[in-house]
This record gives sequence, structure tokens and C-alpha cells, in this order.
Amino acid sequence: MKIAVLISGRGTNLQSLIDAAAAEELGAEIALVVSNVPDAPGLERAAKAGIPTETIDHRDFEGREPFEEALHSALSGRSIELVCLAGFMRLLTGGFVGKWRDRLINIHPSILPAFKGLHTHERAIEAGVRFSGCTVHFVTPEMDDGPIIAQAAVPVLQGDTPGDLAARILAEEHKLYPLAVRLIAEGRAKVAGNKVEISGTAEAPSPVVNPAG
Ligand code: GAR
Repeated sequence: MKIAVLISGRGTNLQSLIDAAAAEELGAEIALVVSNVPDAPGLERAAKAGIPTETIDHRDFEGREPFEEALHSALSGRSIELVCLAGFMRLLTGGFVGKWRDRLINIHPSILPAFKGLHTHERAIEAGVRFSGCTVHFVTPEMDDGPIIAQAAVPVLQGDTPGDLAARILAEEHKLYPLAVRLIAEGRAKVAGNKVEISGTAEAPSPVVNPAG
């Protein structure tokens, strides 16, 4: 399966996909990396791995639709079958999302549907939740919404700063995203209504409680 990864920044999730592909654990080929930010550090990571890159700067376009048309033709031009948003910080219109329906996924640093949007870690700490984590989901026109493929949970610890929590979650993102891509590439994750049906996977181990006692 040919996949594209869309980024806007440092690209550590992109790196986890690159590493999984190199280890032949992704079941997919990263055929294109697109950034909407010209100097995104993630572009370097792609170049180092010999992956074609394109910068499509949203500021060069008058409005979202022309930007998304350019994006769509870059993806179609490389016969991309699955688009992975990895820290891609542009909202996509219903038109674009519709064209890529069931072929467009995103990673978000919370247990959705909690804490959609920005500043998730600050808000999780502020809310006093005992767990947070990350989610990989198919994209629908609503922000940080859509059928959930996989989630990882981490404890929120006493005295955590947003940075502490972000780092703990990011380590799990780097395992979760390659897993989710592999499940799709192997045909083991399929959209069924507003859920994703998964086959041939192990169930999560026993429940976890925080505080532990
Ligand atoms: C990741 O934590 C990702 O979950 C988040 O941005 C970060 C990108 O880091 N995405 C969102 O908040 C999307 N709503 P990276 O560039 O190092 O992969």
C-alpha cells in the first residue's frame, strides 16, 4: 500500500513510520511526504530516508479549496492509497475529506472524544483526569472526529507538567501510529458505520487503575 504522510512540523510521528517501514513492520511504502510549512524539520527526516517530499504552502493559495486541490493532485499523482496526518495543523474541508473518505487518518494526543483541538495536555491536567493518551482515527469533516482505529492510554501523574504528559503520550504515539497503519494495510481495520472493525489482533491486557493503590 502506498501511503503519504502530511506534516507541519518536527515530524517525530513521521519518523516512527519511516523507522517501521525500514524494519518492514509497516506493511506499506511511504511514497510521499507533504508539508504545508516550508521549513518543517520533518522534511529533512523524509529526505534523509530518500522519500520524495513536496511543500504545498497554504499561504500561496487564496482560500482552502485551491490549497486542497493542489494537495489532492500531489497525492493522486503518486497513486497514494492512504493519507496519514501526522502533526498536520490545517483543518481540511468536507470536500477534501469526502474525496479521501476511509483513506485518510489522523493521530491526536488524547483519548478521543475527550480533549479535541489544541492544548490537549494542559486541558487534561486541568480537568484532573487520571488517564490520557492518544488516538488514531479515520478523518471525518468534524475536527478530531471519526471512526477510531486504535488508542493508547497513559497515566496522568501527580505534579505532571503539560510537557511531562506530552512526552509520555508521544512515546506511545510512536508505537500506535505504525500499528494503525499496518492494521489498515493488512486489511484488518475496516470502517463499518461510525466504528472500525478490527480482526486478528490481541485484546488489551487487564484493566489499569490510577492511582494504583
Ligand atoms: C503529535 O503529538 C500529534 O499527536 C499532534 O501534534 C504532534 C505532532 O508531533 N497532533 C495534533 O494535535 C492534531 N490535532 P510530530 O510533528 O513530532 O509528529
